[in-house]
Amino acid sequence: MNVPLRQYYALLSSYLRPQIARVAALALLLFGGIGLQLVNPQIMRGFIDSARSDGPPEYLYRLALLFMGLAVLQQVVAIGTTYFGENVGWTATNFLRADLAEHCLGLDMRFHNTHTPGEMIERLDGDVTALSNFFSQFVIQVFGSAMLMLGVLVLLFREDWRVGLALTVFAVLAMAVLLRLRNIAVPHWTASREAHANLFGFLEERLSGTEDIRSAGAKPYVLLRFFQLMRDVMQKQIRAGLMVNIMVNSGEMVFAVGTAAAFAVGAYVFEAGAVSIGTVYLIFNYTMMLIWPMQRITQQLQNLQLAAAGIVRIQGLLREQPTIADGDGPDLPPGPLTVEFRHVSFSYDSDEPVLRDLDFHLEAGKVLGLLGRTGSGKTTITRLLFRLYEPQEGGIEVGGVPLGQTRLADLRRHVGMVTQNVQLFQASVRDNLTFFDPSIPDERLLAVIEELGLGSWFGSLPQGLDTELESAGGGLSTGEAQLVAFTRIFLQNPGLVILDEASSRLDPATEHLIERAVDRLMQGRTGIVIAHRLGTVQRADEIMILEEGRILEHGERHALVADPGSRFSGLLRTGLEEMLV
Ligand SMILES: Nc1ncnc2c1ncn2[C@@H]1O[C@H](COP(=O)(O)OP(=O)(O)OP(=O)(O)O)[C@@H](O)[C@H]1O
Ligand SMILES: [Mg+2]
Repeated sequence: MNVPLRQYYALLSSYLRPQIARVAALALLLFGGIGLQLVNPQIMRGFIDSARSDGPPEYLYRLALLFMGLAVLQQVVAIGTTYFGENVGWTATNFLRADLAEHCLGLDMRFHNTHTPGEMIERLDGDVTALSNFFSQFVIQVFGSAMLMLGVLVLLFREDWRVGLALTVFAVLAMAVLLRLRNIAVPHWTASREAHANLFGFLEERLSGTEDIRSAGAKPYVLLRFFQLMRDVMQKQIRAGLMVNIMVNSGEMVFAVGTAAAFAVGAYVFEAGAVSIGTVYLIFNYTMMLIWPMQRITQQLQNLQLAAAGIVRIQGLLREQPTIADGDGPDLPPGPLTVEFRHVSFSYDSDEPVLRDLDFHLEAGKVLGLLGRTGSGKTTITRLLFRLYEPQEGGIEVGGVPLGQTRLADLRRHVGMVTQNVQLFQASVRDNLTFFDPSIPDERLLAVIEELGLGSWFGSLPQGLDTELESAGGGLSTGEAQLVAFTRIFLQNPGLVILDEASSRLDPATEHLIERAVDRLMQGRTGIVIAHRLGTVQRADEIMILEEGRILEHGERHALVADPGSRFSGLLRTGLEEMLV
């Protein structure tokens, strides 16, 4: 997976700059830690040489104390490094998560229809989490490790140029080997993950279809496929395991070669009388110290490779642009709004049209009752009015403004929609009514509730407005959830109200409440009611019957009732359920 360097840099700079102070603290701690590591062997050397030459014991005590003090300091620095590292990493990824979430919320419904919730979670959390290390560690670790190696080599050169040279050659060769080795395991590892995913996908599908498999006598086939998939997993897993092993062992080999080289060079310069035994210890110790940063650098590069796949997917997601954008037309007028459909045709995915040549006008303040079989396109009309989708042909105007020219926020403030399945949040009833807007006082809420005739219903909730709703409105029936939605809309005070009645049956008490609330809600507003109940239909001024996306009949309700030949009067005779269910 190749990501241009520019993109890495862009990500780093946009998410690290806002927390530059913390990043600086992290860098300082890391480099401090490196410095401390470099000092340690120097003290040991002094200690060994002084002990061998019968130096004064006070000097030895002082060195020992210093050594211990530095060891403690090193631990403190290590804790600080972890703290700031996690902090920087989480802050950066959280901002990235938030940016992605905001970006996705702004994308079209079309986008969301084709991306499953599981996939979105994986994008917004899985891929981003894999970047945490990249933000908090990558640059600093790679840079810090390189600095540590450089520092060690410089100090070794200072001791003896032959030692410095030998270990520099070793370091260069070892880095080359480790960097070559780093890639060998990754593709095998990916292949093994894929084989696992296949196996689980197969299992999940077959387990959920157990009944059909048995009745169709497909057991032998299923088992055969199961064995094939398991064999695939085994082969890939063995190969991946071997590769990882080869990589780790090769690393160890490099490590052993380094140790041997340090011994050899140390022995040579000691025999030649160039250095003390303490210095030999120092050389040995520094060589060990060369190994860690090498391993850390290769480890970091490996992590980066895993993160790169995530970066590619995140960039792809950020490139997605909504096609429905704010227009620059006038704001919608206050008060009831007219609705105009001009030869509107629409399909979700270009093949099968859902609405065909829809043409009608609804005067401000009138209520249109929309009827039609399931799948005839009623809900789709409301989505177009809310500008969740745009029609392929024709135009829609609300309040005299073409929808394409409206600002989305303005449009959605002026249009209130109660959907078939009201979405409630896991929060108090109050928060569900106000959409978490604390500036709306309880008195206003209660007044609105009273006006909608819902006072006693809200009063019957266990803790009134403080009643906590479970997620997805658990605890409330569909009808009751719609009552909450009515109240929401009444607070919003839009000029056009769209009500997509729940098609499930309601108990008579709730039905009565809904009818009263709808009456009140429609006063002084334009309304479009997708009705499933005769009671609601009778509140409409006009009736429109849809069939397969076409207008089958449209007219004044009274006129249609009076005309015995109309579909509507036919419906009234046979009962609404006849058509609507
Ligand atoms: N998001 C979508 N993507 C693709 N097709 C869709 C989508 N939503 C609805 N459809 C299809 O569009 C057609 C009209 O659906 P719509 O929801 O508007 O019907 P409806 O009249 O509201 O039905 P119901 O009475 O069951 O609510 C149906 O054939 C449906 O399968
Ligand atoms: Mg519907």
